[in-house]
Amino acid sequence: MQSLHIIYASTSGHTEYVISVLGEFLKEKGVELSVQKAEEAVGEDLLKGDVLILACATWNLDALEGHLNPHMYALLNKRAQDIDLAGKPVALISLGDDRYFYTCRATERFMQYFMSHNGKPCCPPFLVVNEPYGQEEKVEKWGAKLLEFLSGAKE
Ligand SMILES: Cc1cc2nc3c(=O)[nH]c(=O)nc-3n(C[C@H](O)[C@H](O)[C@H](O)COP(=O)(O)O)c2cc1C
Repeated sequence: MQSLHIIYASTSGHTEYVISVLGEFLKEKGVELSVQKAEEAVGEDLLKGDVLILACATWNLDALEGHLNPHMYALLNKRAQDIDLAGKPVALISLGDDRYFYTCRATERFMQYFMSHNGKPCCPPFLVVNEPYGQEEKVEKWGAKLLEFLSGAKE
């Protein structure tokens, strides 16, 4: 079983909640995982674990909607701007709200980062639209797909 390192940013606690539901699910299945807040991470932290999860919601940046959470933005585009993921498998979780025009656009921002830093997608990005409370089943379903990859059932 491959190990997992999760780096997330969360302002009102929604992403943090999704990560806690996913983490509990995966731990029960025997996955070894570590979790870190983006604001406490340095560039090299993206290289921890066999598989990396990046997670955050879509936010304003300099008054423009459709951006990464500012903590995740600062990590990826400043402290981790010279990191080479060298084919590392990466999974993405992005949150958003359908009241915004660029709903869940953080996904594309994440993809721009990992594609230009040699990351390799290991499963489809997971999008959580609106409050995550009540969406636990969806989180676990995506977690089951990720588990297939971690356990080597899917390459
Ligand atoms: C200032 C602000 C800007 C936001 N911009 C967007 C946006 O452009 N697109 C979107 O889908 N959601 C947007 N959202 C909604 C958040 O992505 C959503 O509430 C998310 O669940 C927050 O997760 P968090 O508590 O983990 O940060 C915005 C919310 C705020 C408060």
